[in-house]
Amino acid sequence: MKIAVLGAAGGIGQALALLLKLDLPENSSLSLYDIAPVTPGVAKDLSHIPTSVHVDGYAGEDPTPALEGADVVLISAGVARKPGMDRSDLFNINAGIIKNLVGKVAEVAPEACIGIITNPVNTTVAIASEVLKKAGVYNKNKLFGITTLDVIRAEDFVAEKKGLPEEHVRVNVIGGHSGTTILPVLSQVQGVEFSEQEVIELTDRIQNAGTEVVNAKAGGGSATLSMARAASIFGVDLVRALLGKQGIIQNAYVDGGNSCSPFFTQPLLLGKKGIERVLPFGELSPFEEQKKQEMLSVLHADIQKGIDFVKNND
Ligand SMILES: NC(=O)c1ccc[n+]([C@@H]2O[C@H](COP(=O)([O-])OP(=O)(O)OC[C@H]3O[C@@H](n4cnc5c(N)ncnc54)[C@H](O)[C@@H]3O)[C@@H](O)[C@H]2O)c1
Repeated sequence: MKIAVLGAAGGIGQALALLLKLDLPENSSLSLYDIAPVTPGVAKDLSHIPTSVHVDGYAGEDPTPALEGADVVLISAGVARKPGMDRSDLFNINAGIIKNLVGKVAEVAPEACIGIITNPVNTTVAIASEVLKKAGVYNKNKLFGITTLDVIRAEDFVAEKKGLPEEHVRVNVIGGHSGTTILPVLSQVQGVEFSEQEVIELTDRIQNAGTEVVNAKAGGGSATLSMARAASIFGVDLVRALLGKQGIIQNAYVDGGNSCSPFFTQPLLLGKKGIERVLPFGELSPFEEQKKQEMLSVLHADIQKGIDFVKNND
């Protein structure tokens, strides 16, 4: 399997590349691309770690060599948040970057699974789908907005609040990937009872966890290390599923035929062709049902913004 990381010289990209070098199945090929000239050096640096994962690095304006033969393309290219910004403030720059890079994927690796990290994910995934549709190569089972960071944050915060071992906590996070569209389904967490107040506080913390990091980094960027871990969990699981491992379930923001929204984050059974089956997100508590209803207008507007962007920038 060949896995390409676009934006590989960035805060997320470099850490993600390191984790993939360590965790991808044996003899995978890792291809790093970024406009930054340091990128071949990042690949050289990683290549000195003795694993069987082969690493190449490419810089410059053209991602073609990095994309040739790619089975999975993970995209973290773009700009990150600074204090006072929300994810939608990134739209103007990142929308164009995603449109161009996904256009190249459509041309060079039209069969590849694409995982989008670049924010605002609610909108950049819609942009990607429009670009792929225009190129005539859209496969909804192969396009993912990576929302695994919301899941691992939710699991960490629940474990911390309840004094549980982190590895035993599983949280289903649905909706989208910004503010109120991030909905942790705490009522489904096994073996844990939450008070009403705990649900309100945990939901708010999970929804605003990205801002916690942005503020703590004081102008130096947004989540990179935890995001890299999240993307590597998703990316490695996707590769394993493509190779035939059965029973792999991950949540992601996809065009899953959900009646709530054209794109929605929910659990997915992954398989040899990407999404094998979109799984139901399960029963919600009245609090969660209300939060879901409240988020839908935001989610729909975010998606429409992506569709309009591609229409207006032909
Ligand atoms: N999905 C999530 O949960 C999540 C979490 C955190 C951050 N993010 C997003 O991920 C993105 C990257 O964050 P970061 O902290 O790594 O930023 P960063 O600024 O450290 O890195 C971004 C990299 O993208 C590169 N780049 C810019 N334009 C490019 C292009 N056209 N082609 C290839 N590379 C290009 C830059 O050179 C840079 O190396 C941001 O949009 C951020 O908001 C997403």
